[in-house]
Amino acid sequence: MRFLTKKIQEMSANIAVCYIFEDSLEISPMFEYLNSLSNGTLCKQVFEYKMNKGNFLESFKMAINNEVTALVVGLGKQCELTRKKFSQVVANTSRLAKNISKNAAIAFELPICQIPKADIAQITITASRIGLYEFNKYLKEKIEKIDTIEIIDDNLTVEIEKNILIGAYSSFAMKFTKDLVNESAQVATPSYISRVAEQIATDYNLEIKVYDKKQIKALNMNAFLAVGQGSKHEPKFIHLTYRPIGTPKKKIALVGKGITFDAGGMNIKPAASMLTMKDDMTGAASVLGIIQAIAKLKPQIELHVISALCENMTSGSAYKQGDVLTAMNGKTIEVDNTDAEGRITLADALCYADTLGVDEVIDIATLTGAVVVALGNNITGVLGNNQQQIDNFKKCAELSCENVWQMPILDELKDNLKSEIADFKNTGGRNAGTSTAAWFLSNFTQSTSWMHLDIAGTAWLDKSNKETLSGPTGVMVRSIIRYLLTI
Ligand code: BES
Ligand code: MN
Ligand code: ZN
Repeated sequence: MRFLTKKIQEMSANIAVCYIFEDSLEISPMFEYLNSLSNGTLCKQVFEYKMNKGNFLESFKMAINNEVTALVVGLGKQCELTRKKFSQVVANTSRLAKNISKNAAIAFELPICQIPKADIAQITITASRIGLYEFNKYLKEKIEKIDTIEIIDDNLTVEIEKNILIGAYSSFAMKFTKDLVNESAQVATPSYISRVAEQIATDYNLEIKVYDKKQIKALNMNAFLAVGQGSKHEPKFIHLTYRPIGTPKKKIALVGKGITFDAGGMNIKPAASMLTMKDDMTGAASVLGIIQAIAKLKPQIELHVISALCENMTSGSAYKQGDVLTAMNGKTIEVDNTDAEGRITLADALCYADTLGVDEVIDIATLTGAVVVALGNNITGVLGNNQQQIDNFKKCAELSCENVWQMPILDELKDNLKSEIADFKNTGGRNAGTSTAAWFLSNFTQSTSWMHLDIAGTAWLDKSNKETLSGPTGVMVRSIIRYLLTI
């Protein structure tokens, strides 16, 4: 996908998007331009007959001439337009455009409203890519794609151009994440993902370490190893590093849950719950997407990306209920339920992150069904031990058109995971499942700025929402990139 910036007179796309507000008669430069190309027909058509005055998401299509089709899109009331609503409009409009013409370029104007123009530009890029996303690798007949987005404005500034670049790399990272999640568990094994990581390291000139089973054992990550022992695919532990030129302002570790398929283990999942469990490596895919954007945008931070990759299967060699596992930091875990495997692998990954001397740790994981019960499929749970970090992140999520909601980690949760024979059990009943899982994780990090994102509800949509179609979402990727850029 190409992103171009152009002045109105230079526009060469065959689909041109212009916006109108429900409560404003002001006509945008793009509307004016298209109207004059159509000798005034556009104005007449839109206002006299077709549109119900710019209601939110309402749209009207008109062929301006042989080359250009106009898409006039309603943004609702000017004062009610939010970043998220604008993102929904752009994603939907892109899908509309794709239906008009398969092989096309779309031009978007930047509407004037209370949202800064540079942000409008960035959202236009990310949301158009969300709208146009498809995974057609395994389709015999591939539909031709829209491959060019033109941002049209006569007063482009350095700031707008910069935000367009951030939007382009963020949306690439999201697409990368979704593609990897869409890949079947048969293909996206721990070895495959570690090879993808090696390719990224080569392409972006990053440091990489890939640990195999023997090396993982040597690091004493016996909790992680236990989870993968029922699978015929060998586990891998990956660690990529981006270093800036000069002294970093901060060192950050990003840890992604990397279960390439979660059958539940001996506590096997029912068929319906297992159906989408190839997505249980979304955390790993996300951090691999994010580091590519960071390597391109080059902020003054040191970024470590970590994932413990393995598959959770039932088999003669699988780990079992009652097993006692020792994590890298020497703490012991009694296995109460083999389906609570993510926290076991993350325990070792968090211990490893502690050895890197970082200032902050963020993990992203499809961790608990309980977060789906609590928050549904459009809100990510955020938990942690540093309120300042969480507050900063919440702000970044809002600016990135994503929903997060903080959930508590309280000492009272400790009793849920009491074991008679080990330091903890790995599960503690149905109540407060998301908080309990986070409390478990908190025992394996020494960081005083650790934040945990539970994306079990948001990583994959069974039903499309206003912005994103069903399937993988690439959730939190743009928010984390923004967070890393604001440090
Ligand atoms: N990968 C699942 C969590 C999950 C559930 C992700 C639904 C996406 C959608 C995780 O490994 C799991 O199985 N968690 C269990 C923990 C329980 C046994 C304490 C759960 O939440 O049911
Ligand atoms: Mn599980
Ligand atoms: Zn899982």
